[in-house]
Amino acid sequence: MDKFYVIGDPIKHSHSPLIHNAILDFLGMGQTYTARQIGQEELACFINEVRGGDVKGFNVTAPHKIAIMQYLDEIGAEVEKIGAVNTVRSIEGRMVGYNTDADGFSQMLKRAGVRVTGAKVKIIGAGGAARGVIYALLRDGAEEITVYNRTQEKAAKLAADFGVDYELPEAFTPECDILINTSSAEMFEGGNNGIDLPEDSGFKPNVTDIIYLPPETRFLKQARERGCQTQNGLNMLIFQAIRAAEIWHGVDLMENEELLRRIHKKFAEIGVV
Ligand code: ATR
Repeated sequence: MDKFYVIGDPIKHSHSPLIHNAILDFLGMGQTYTARQIGQEELACFINEVRGGDVKGFNVTAPHKIAIMQYLDEIGAEVEKIGAVNTVRSIEGRMVGYNTDADGFSQMLKRAGVRVTGAKVKIIGAGGAARGVIYALLRDGAEEITVYNRTQEKAAKLAADFGVDYELPEAFTPECDILINTSSAEMFEGGNNGIDLPEDSGFKPNVTDIIYLPPETRFLKQARERGCQTQNGLNMLIFQAIRAAEIWHGVDLMENEELLRRIHKKFAEIGVV
């Protein structure tokens, strides 16, 4: 029987099995998708298993998103630019790497009714997640993108890689159409991305925090209280998974509202909204 996995270390908190098993159920397919704890030293061994066996695809999370590339036979154009792989398709042992984070991000904004074409965008954070977000925004026609990050050198490097602007966090103003937090600061207790939204600036950008746990970060709450339309990153997570499933199973699922409803129901059952 065809097998699908998500590999990472640690992996027990991954929500990928919940999403992919909902997709497999929806498609009525008898395949399995499970989480596999694979440490750095076990990656080569796992690849041998894929080449020789009935693994048809797998997702890749930290710490393997870059290391996995050395084992692949082919990578998508988006992988070269983003610099990381989150999805692998294996056809008779030949492995192709993709990054579906950008597609997940684009679909999340599209579904929220946010128009990217011609938009002025500000991004907080300059890590791996920011690369997928910027790739998507440029592809979708954003007019102007400025990066703000605690560590200036990382903002400068990211901005140079993508041909966008960067500024010091101290220079931040909410004057933009779309504001996105990609920093992981608030995933940790008491963390703060260092950006505050003034009460009376008059600017009401659409605000995304790609974090979905907690469901509403301090940053997102502040934006909502300032009257901004907001969304967390749960739909980005869901849509990057749906895109991976499209690649593996050869079906169109991104616009399927019934599938999305079923996945949201699964998340609601475990208290994630
Ligand atoms: P990811 O792949 O999720 O983007 P990452 O590459 O480790 O993870 O990047 C984390 C991002 O969150 C970085 O932009 C980081 O800022 P630095 O470049 O200054 O490290 C940002 N970040 C994490 N903790 C932060 C904090 N407490 N304050 C501000 N930014 C923080």
